[in-house]
Amino acid sequence: MIDIRSDTVTKPTEAMRKAMAAAEVGDDVYGDDPTVNRLEALGAEMLGKEAALFVPSGTFGNQLALFTWCRRGTEVILGEECHIVVHEAGAASVIAGVQTRCVPAPDGVLQPGDIRKRLRKQDLHAPATSLICMENAHSMGKTVSLADMDAVKAIAAEWGLPVHLDGARIFNAAAALGCKASDIAARVDSVMCCLSKGLCAPVGSLLAGTKDFVEAARLKRKIMGGGMRQAGILAAAGIIALTEHTALLAADHLRAKKLAQGLAHIEGMQIDTAADINMVFFSHPAGETPQAGANITAAFARQGILINPPEQGLFRFVTHYWIGDKELDAILAASATIFGGNSAAIFAGPQGAS
Ligand SMILES: Cc1ncc(COP(=O)(O)O)c(C=O)c1O
Repeated sequence: MIDIRSDTVTKPTEAMRKAMAAAEVGDDVYGDDPTVNRLEALGAEMLGKEAALFVPSGTFGNQLALFTWCRRGTEVILGEECHIVVHEAGAASVIAGVQTRCVPAPDGVLQPGDIRKRLRKQDLHAPATSLICMENAHSMGKTVSLADMDAVKAIAAEWGLPVHLDGARIFNAAAALGCKASDIAARVDSVMCCLSKGLCAPVGSLLAGTKDFVEAARLKRKIMGGGMRQAGILAAAGIIALTEHTALLAADHLRAKKLAQGLAHIEGMQIDTAADINMVFFSHPAGETPQAGANITAAFARQGILINPPEQGLFRFVTHYWIGDKELDAILAASATIFGGNSAAIFAGPQGAS
């Protein structure tokens, strides 16, 4: 199957599997795992931070950042469509015990004026703001410019607040913005980056910041059950992700552009041309209702292509390491058949027949 549901579906490469099998390991809760230590040092260096901590997932890393920065009962300001709010199952209220205060963030960009209106100090009625969070690249496929990040950081500095970055795809953002990941991370106090998305590692993320922040996070990671013992087996793949795969992301972005250009030839297709990274967002009249979306998803599956059903009529195709030119051609051919007015292709088979 050609799987374009997400870049999280990337399986580890042969080189990763070999490195995992051969990894030197120890008990990471004692700080004894040399491979985890190497990954954390490398991650810290690439993100331009003093230290980094290996954590099981991106969600874990984001929630650990909130848990480490914020006192219970305080408030975190973030964009209304960000992953922490939309896709982390309400964890901020469960783990850190904080209230999320959303601001509109067109294309993932927090607007200084909107943040200012919501900043507050503790009083009898109001919780204090304890943290501002950004996301770059945004999971809607957009990057946030360094200047827009600077504007948020400046407000945070005025108020003496830390800024956390959900940088699950920070290396995609860096490739798209033409800068280093450390240039992006320099605009925030803590950053989470994922090794398991377009970078192909099977598991794991890093949370980076100052040494003091990371030591505080290490304790909270233990509280969350994230002390992983011989985790060098996983870190070995993470090292390859950072050393070999960050440079390959630009090729995924290019393929996403080609995919968008190809899809644009199909009548009725509405492509979001503002996506900057490895994602193509589009809508088509044929997929407007939930049932039509399900039929289209099934039609792609019959052609050997896994896609997610559209969300509110919006389809998302994601390119990644395992999507080469041959796969791209197959996706475009299937799209032309399915969206290009061939209703037989959409409605054939058990789903469409009912
Ligand atoms: C922007 C963003 N942040 C965080 C995460 C969470 O990562 P994980 O699935 O490893 O928990 C994701 C997952 O896709 C994401 O897209």
